[in-house]
Amino acid sequence: MYLTPEEEKLINGERGATYQKAMEILAALGDIYGADRLIPIKSAQIAGVSYKTIGEAGLEWISDLKGKVAVPSILNPAGMDRDCWREMGISEDFADKQEKIIRAYEALGVRTECTCTPYSVFDNLAGFGDHIAWSESSAISYANSVIGARTNREGGPSALAAALVGKTPNFGYHLDENRKPDILIHVDTKLQDSDYGALGYIVGGIVGDRVPLFKLKSASSRDELKSLGAAMAASGAVALYHVSGITPEAGKYEVPKEKITIEERQIKEVYTKGEPDLIAFGCPHSSADELERLAQLLDGKKVKKEVWVCTSRAIKNKHPGLVKRIEKSGAKVFCDTCMVVSPASERFTCMMVSSGKAHKYVPNLCGVKSILGTTEECIATALRD
Ligand code: F3S
Repeated sequence: MYLTPEEEKLINGERGATYQKAMEILAALGDIYGADRLIPIKSAQIAGVSYKTIGEAGLEWISDLKGKVAVPSILNPAGMDRDCWREMGISEDFADKQEKIIRAYEALGVRTECTCTPYSVFDNLAGFGDHIAWSESSAISYANSVIGARTNREGGPSALAAALVGKTPNFGYHLDENRKPDILIHVDTKLQDSDYGALGYIVGGIVGDRVPLFKLKSASSRDELKSLGAAMAASGAVALYHVSGITPEAGKYEVPKEKITIEERQIKEVYTKGEPDLIAFGCPHSSADELERLAQLLDGKKVKKEVWVCTSRAIKNKHPGLVKRIEKSGAKVFCDTCMVVSPASERFTCMMVSSGKAHKYVPNLCGVKSILGTTEECIATALRD
């Protein structure tokens, strides 16, 4: 990969070991994937924040870095709510280490908002056609598919390297030819609510890392597309999808010849039953509209089970009335974290979720049984003895 004289200086260590390491990561990726050069990015979103996932080695690695990010950069969810970690059942030791990780990122100039929905917090991180380096799989999918920005599936270290240098190697989803759909998914039924997560759960397992083009019978909200993409990125490795008539690049390419049909029966089969001791919403982090829906379903009622609603701190701060209505029912609104990346959910035995992504990850990453229900079913279960 071609390096400019300025980039050569970085890789030769003229600005210190941190920038040298960052350039080495970017150059290695560029060489492996055949990039011609580095291209400037508008923003970075950095995974590898929860102490649960990166542990002591990750904390040490980040703490040793010295420099400042060159573009607006934001963190993925951490392992706890930074204010209410005791209420979550997080230990002092974990909280101390988690704070050290976040402060180490802050020292590098990274914004300490910890969310997988950065697009709902800051308007200026990614627009149509912008090159970015994001690393949380649902955020990647949303950025590529719904916004029409361009990012590869970055890992935490490569997103941080891109943030420090302000550039990323030009390959993969940054290039037009890799954004065209290669399989048509015809959905033979109308969808609503968690059906999108259930559909993503099925399709991700079928298409792997290919680019699906959906033909749907229902109009889809941005939150529903968020759920669809998140589930496909979890059960498969889908980083980009198109929805005919809805997403910005859907009409730009030829319709692929390969086609599969998903029937109502298959979607229904993803839903499961059981006796949960935790009901969790907000994977990906709940939007204001989703909080409003939960508030409406909970108004004037009391939950009989542990209920968590995960969202970003920015959304929580912006909508104190919604948070109050939800919390009045006994449900807890947590931010900076989620039911998957926090160790707090591991003390439960069965989690009911409305998210296809959480349904896929909870058993493996939390060691907890998972049940998928619609939002209404989850709330009805929460209200039952
Ligand atoms: Fe976000 Fe956690 Fe789900 S990071 S997408 S809420 S697993």
